[in-house]
Amino acid sequence: MPLNRLLPLLLLLLAACPATTPADDDDDDSAADDDDSTPYVQPGPFEDMEREERIEFMRHVVVPTMQPLLAQIDPEKYNEVDFGCDDCHGEDYIDADYEMPNGIVELSVSNFPHSQNADPELREYGELMEDEFLPTMAGLLGRELWTQQTPDGMSCSACHPIVN
Ligand code: HEC
Ligand code: HEC
Repeated sequence: MPLNRLLPLLLLLLAACPATTPADDDDDDSAADDDDSTPYVQPGPFEDMEREERIEFMRHVVVPTMQPLLAQIDPEKYNEVDFGCDDCHGEDYIDADYEMPNGIVELSVSNFPHSQNADPELREYGELMEDEFLPTMAGLLGRELWTQQTPDGMSCSACHPIVN
């Protein structure tokens, strides 16, 4: 093959080879490496992610963003070490294949809006959920909020079963 035809082919092959970048040397999964210096980069909108990418996104973005919000109510119950996937996805989330809502506290229709509940504890949760938790979660997922005009938007029912 003449060189002028071989060269583009070689370049193509080179481009296809996985390059070893400095970032790849930083194996954050190994126990010996706890510097966590490789920054997480979101591969695109949540909607377009594969299952594995969604899991990584949940681990790197959703858990650390959402935990401090709930910790405002009860820093011990929702502490940084124990708060995780099961808090939103339910204890048996692997068996449930991440299907939601699953296994977290049910909300009664008659208690809406929770921010106006007579019970001060429910009211505190209600305010947090309405003002911060739901809008933050929807923002992370790139979804709009439920309103009568946007019936496909995200609501409390993304995480909570709603009962009569
Ligand atoms: C603060 C609540 C919250 C936490 C914590 C959380 N998730 Fe999620 N997760 C969600 C919500 C909300 C969705 C979107 C559900 C929907 O589509 O309505 C979701 C979706 C997912 C999906 C996509 C499911 C599908 O069918 O495509 C996966 C996978 C997932 N989460 C894994 C995890 C893992 C693993 C963890 C722990 C590292 C975790 N999540 C922690 C709220 C949470
Ligand atoms: C992204 C998931 C998610 C969304 C969306 C969400 N919640 Fe929650 N909610 C939680 C989690 C997690 C808890 C803590 C559950 C626990 O401690 O067992 C909780 C707790 C609560 C509680 C306390 C219940 C109790 O009896 O302890 C109330 C009330 C509540 N949420 C209301 C709402 C309302 C109202 C909305 C919609 C405006 C909403 N939530 C949206 C995840 C969510």
